[in-house]
Amino acid sequence: MEMSVEIVAHAPAFAVVAETVADVAAREALLDRAMGPKRKTKSSEKLRRGRRPSEGLAFVARDASGGVAGTVRLWDVTLGEGGSSALLLGPLAVDPSLKSAGI
Ligand SMILES: CC(C)(COP(=O)(O)OP(=O)(O)OC[C@H]1O[C@@H](n2cnc3c(N)ncnc32)[C@H](O)[C@@H]1OP(=O)(O)O)[C@@H](O)C(=O)NCCC(=O)NCCS
Repeated sequence: MEMSVEIVAHAPAFAVVAETVADVAAREALLDRAMGPKRKTKSSEKLRRGRRPSEGLAFVARDASGGVAGTVRLWDVTLGEGGSSALLLGPLAVDPSLKSAGI
């Protein structure tokens, strides 16, 4: 059975929903603003390179006009050789102009 979950963030003007293909450009621009141009050189980014996020675990926070105000994804990883499966969180970011608004 397929389930759909919508999580409403504390800030009432925002809703956390599944990311769509149409959000990708806005998500990348937001990450550049929130984390700076060197974000792709981080060790966590190297782990994610060439992978796809975990199925159904990429979310955006949408503002009232549908814009992308925040982003978070999770990634399937394996701990060590032949180790157990785990989820790697990130990147997690909120548009700098909306920080500390509860998103
Ligand atoms: C971290 C981030 C996503 C928080 O988003 P936000 O919408 O501003 O957060 P909220 O308003 O929901 O919550 C603010 C709370 O988070 C805490 N917080 C903010 N940044 C934090 C951080 N890097 N680590 C731990 N706590 C943090 C604040 O102290 C505050 O706590 P309080 O409610 O107890 O006072 C946002 O500041 C951001 O995009 N930062 C730049 C990107 C980043 O560093 N991401 C994390 C690593 S991938």
